[in-house]
Amino acid sequence: MKDKILQKFAEVFGAEGDVKAYFAPGRVNLIGEHTDYNGGHVFPCALTIGTYGAARRRTDNKLRFYSMNFEKLGMIESSLDDLVSSKEAGWTNYPKGVMWAFGEKGMKVPSGMDLMLYGNIPNGSGLSSSASVEVLMGYILRDFFGFDVTNQDLALIGQFAENNYNKVNCGIMDQFAIAMGKKDNAIFLDTADLSFEYAPIVLEGAKIVIASSNKKRGLGDSKYNERRSECETALAELQEKVKINGLGDLDEETFEKYQSAIQDDVRRKRAKHAVYENQRTIRAVEALKANDVALFGQLMNASHVSLRDDYEVTGIELDTLVEEAWKVDGCIGSRMTGAGFGGCTVSIVKDEAIDSFIEKVGKAYEAKIGYAADFYVVEVGNGPVAL
Ligand code: GLA
Repeated sequence: MKDKILQKFAEVFGAEGDVKAYFAPGRVNLIGEHTDYNGGHVFPCALTIGTYGAARRRTDNKLRFYSMNFEKLGMIESSLDDLVSSKEAGWTNYPKGVMWAFGEKGMKVPSGMDLMLYGNIPNGSGLSSSASVEVLMGYILRDFFGFDVTNQDLALIGQFAENNYNKVNCGIMDQFAIAMGKKDNAIFLDTADLSFEYAPIVLEGAKIVIASSNKKRGLGDSKYNERRSECETALAELQEKVKINGLGDLDEETFEKYQSAIQDDVRRKRAKHAVYENQRTIRAVEALKANDVALFGQLMNASHVSLRDDYEVTGIELDTLVEEAWKVDGCIGSRMTGAGFGGCTVSIVKDEAIDSFIEKVGKAYEAKIGYAADFYVVEVGNGPVAL
């Protein structure tokens, strides 16, 4: 891929000067969904698929962008003096947002660049292609200009850009999973204080299979923000009765004791999901450490049920993929992953069952939904690198 992107770079921008190539992964979350903005735990891992970039410094303030995924758009030109998000800027809002965010943090980007990108994360699938671009951009800026930032800072800057430049109110999970990725490990992250630990993904005789529903998120972002505010209101109501900083501070028992403080049934369900999902995540990581993959799978299944019934972020596409997956012999666990409302499911499937899993779930999905799902057997990879 490195050669391919460098070649395309030369074709579009010219070959002269010092062109460098980079890669940042995508991510999949194994369990701990919609907990990262509630001060709870998440358990994502970086993938070996992601975003490739080739870049070269310029001596002026110009920015020239080209994406091999959106060739029809051709070269998109901008400037460091125009770091303002706009609809017309399309995908370049992501790299530009990161340049803007560095400036906001006191690290003004000193000169422009030419940037070529190619992503092999399925488009709009919920495997964090935008966070992947953000972390990649931050990594390139650090490499080019020597900014004194850690990979964890790159995650925070990426999230800052997403929240404030692109106005998506996401938590820290995606950028953190990508910036801190480690081959064959998932990251058990406490989003309340960003303490974390790596946990080896040892699935002995099984693999992670991602199924993309091919339903684009569409209305998802507004629903996402709606869930966030429902949780915030529920938290404020609980705080009248019990001293907590986030829903992640509660275990199930304490939640049950105080849940009547929440004045509305829907909000109570949302908060219940956040509390129970956080506890499930803690338990799931313990199970994995004890080599109890079966229990890990059961907790994944329970996570889906809670996201379907209490948090209500699944929809017929994700529910069909998961419910069909549960029927397949050799499927250890299956759930939606990411924000929901479309996007992907993640399943753990025994090696010998993978072919029949893809066939059975694929057929049933197409029959019910009317178009096909795509399946990816993925590997857990490292964080961003210079190639
Ligand atoms: C999206 C957000 C994350 C997280 C998940 C849900 O991927 O970007 O911060 O909230 O949804 O778990």
